[in-house]
Amino acid sequence: MTELSEPFPRTARDGLGRLVLRRHADVVAAAHDPATFSSAVSRYLQVPNGLDGAEHAAFRRLLDPFFAPERMSALAPALERTAHGVVAALGVGTFDAVSVLGARFAVRAQSVWLGWPTDLEDELLAWVEDNRAASRSGDVARTTKVAERFDAIIRSLLAARRDDGVPVDVTTELMGLKTEDGRGLTDAELVSILRNWTGGDLSSLALCTGVVVHWLATHPAHQPALAVADDESLDAAIVEMLRLDDPFVSNRRIATSDTTAGGCPVAAGDRLVLDWRAANRDPDAFADADSYDPDGHAAANLVYGTGPHVCPGRPLATLELRILVRTLLAAGRVTLDDSHRPVREEAPAAGFRSVSVTLA
Ligand code: HEM
Repeated sequence: MTELSEPFPRTARDGLGRLVLRRHADVVAAAHDPATFSSAVSRYLQVPNGLDGAEHAAFRRLLDPFFAPERMSALAPALERTAHGVVAALGVGTFDAVSVLGARFAVRAQSVWLGWPTDLEDELLAWVEDNRAASRSGDVARTTKVAERFDAIIRSLLAARRDDGVPVDVTTELMGLKTEDGRGLTDAELVSILRNWTGGDLSSLALCTGVVVHWLATHPAHQPALAVADDESLDAAIVEMLRLDDPFVSNRRIATSDTTAGGCPVAAGDRLVLDWRAANRDPDAFADADSYDPDGHAAANLVYGTGPHVCPGRPLATLELRILVRTLLAAGRVTLDDSHRPVREEAPAAGFRSVSVTLA
């Protein structure tokens, strides 16, 4: 449905025939109308992603407190130590901002947060790589196998905690939660929650790191000011860099009744895609959408979504990225490595597969 006469295509059809909403106003409208555009798009249990209505809201009330400001403040010193360790290990010379810096920091930071053993790092890093390759391949059997491997890792961590009765950490705390009607969480729910917290985040944080480091390397004049910026200014700068080149492309919905979206007729059961990446560059929503303007563009920024499914992990992702960027800029200035051009990530992800940079 892309109309070439329109400067910014309102909608498109993807390779699966799904309606892709690209305009900011259309994406926001659909994201705020979960009764018509349901998130129950998968045949697998997805807590809370795949839930709607009261059930979804109850899980958000249960899980959102894990990202409360006081918890993030308490976590910050351990994440700072983690970032220092990862940046110190870069040494001199060039490194890949996605796999060496971003993915390694993401895995260590997640393990620190959830209380997972450090010896899981290599297995998780290998999983991140395989998961990205499987997503690129579009091969459902391969993606399912990779997902099952991750579930097995999580189940073994849960089992170890049951056997040994061990540490008080975020994972054991999650295992002890009771729903509002007084029951404990099932294993399937625990695995799904941890999969959504970690599986998605490991890849997105690595991709976010690639985009942010690429922006810094290609805008060197901003580096000295950002190195000493306060939390609020640095967070605003980072989320604006991510808006300009959003690596978290889209989420799916399914229509519950006959309706319209983006000016197109939609039948009950039709699948749709909310294209955050395109909406984040919609000239109708952002004055000079291609320019860098952290303050001016903040209100309409959709990097972390909007509506009832808005990202609950935003405070954690924001903290991790702030700490990583600050640690990196405290260690030196970042420049692109001229001998290795940045390699773009392929659909369904975006951002970069690799960004080779030098820190000096
Ligand atoms: C690294 C950068 C991240 C980006 C760009 C990002 C982006 C998003 C977006 C756009 C959504 C909305 C999905 C929708 O409307 O269907 C979302 C939802 C979600 N995110 Fe994030 N996210 C990030 C990090 C995290 C982290 C660190 C966590 C947890 C540790 C997390 C957990 C979730 C969960 C569980 C949902 C589903 C919420 C729901 O359906 O109610 N995300 N994220």
